[in-house]
Amino acid sequence: MKICVMPGDGIGPEIMAQGIKVLEVIGEKFGHTFDVTEALIGGIAIDKTGVPLPDATVKACKEADAVMLGAVGGPQWDTIDPAIRPERGLLGIRKELSLFANLRPAALFPQLKKACFLRSDIVEKGIDVMVVRELTGGIYFGEPRGTGVENGERIGFNTMVYREHEIRRIAKLAFEAARKRSKRLCSVDKANVLDVSRVWREIVIEVSADYPDVELSHMYVDNAAMQLVRDPSQFDVIVTGNLFGDILSDEAAVITGSIGMLPSASLGEGNPGLFEPIHGSAPDIAGQDKANPLATILSVAMMLRYSFDMAAEATCIEEAVAKTLSQGLRTGDIMDEGGTLVGCVEMGQAVIKNLQ
Ligand code: NAI
Ligand code: MG
Repeated sequence: MKICVMPGDGIGPEIMAQGIKVLEVIGEKFGHTFDVTEALIGGIAIDKTGVPLPDATVKACKEADAVMLGAVGGPQWDTIDPAIRPERGLLGIRKELSLFANLRPAALFPQLKKACFLRSDIVEKGIDVMVVRELTGGIYFGEPRGTGVENGERIGFNTMVYREHEIRRIAKLAFEAARKRSKRLCSVDKANVLDVSRVWREIVIEVSADYPDVELSHMYVDNAAMQLVRDPSQFDVIVTGNLFGDILSDEAAVITGSIGMLPSASLGEGNPGLFEPIHGSAPDIAGQDKANPLATILSVAMMLRYSFDMAAEATCIEEAVAKTLSQGLRTGDIMDEGGTLVGCVEMGQAVIKNLQ
């Protein structure tokens, strides 16, 4: 299995080093060979090659079976030409790999429930949601779009359009993901107002015929936003379009209270998936051994589960992370009363010890 790793900027190299060590230990434990190659992306790629996404990186990613990313960006590149900013590297590689689905689990480890700001009776019921967001269609890309002047006043407009094949493939992927979890899928739309949502709902229902073991429900997006904070335990997998998914995945992430804990996956068809923590390059703590490597380590688990169908290996990592938290180890971002403050390296080492 070939894995292309792009550590990127800021804390990227620190957290990725721990993620790769975990991967190596899993390889030894389960008898797999992971062939890891490194590639440049983001600010460091700009510094070394002049562009945020060198051709060599695109090639290395396309030749791999899965791709891992740390994070990109930082204040030193904020003033350069927007056309070659670090973020362009990330957008570029997502496009090159035609990644149309973004999977964002938001799970609260019970050991960290003090960090969650929801009422304790809600937290006690548990939070383990995964938002599956369509990534390449919808209002962010629909045509026509633009700004202009109409009857003497300024207007701006975008178009929300979804085509059958786009809805069908994201629905299929979400049903498959639900199958790997608690087998409940909630499709979120605005079918009471939007025509595009009525087509969305119709096609999701058609796809559901192939997944009789998954329980399908539908919810309007405004209600879903409320229900996520009122009682997140009612959700397992949520599937939705680009705009609604952008908002709901951030909402689901923030209710867990710890950005340093959350992994993500972006998947396409016939291309390697991209796995990355949801946080950025955290320039404020970069190079100080303070970063929480767990989001990256959990992204490795997602890669094993979704790209390589290695559920046992993925679960092994997740259990090692849970055990490490149970032992009271905390990086600064998740530090709580009674916790033991550790750095990035020490946290990674503890997970590895618990893996073995
Ligand atoms: P950020 O996620 O980098 O940091 C927000 C806050 O969370 C900071 O206080 C940071 O120290 C903390 N934090 C983030 N990850 C952490 C971790 N693993 N352990 C401990 N603490 C952690 O977001 P921010 O500050 O808005 O952006 C910083 C840079 O990262 C910018 O250049 C931005 O463009 C870039 N960025 C990159 C992303 C990516 O590569 N996917 C996503 C978001 C931002
Ligand atoms: Mg967002």
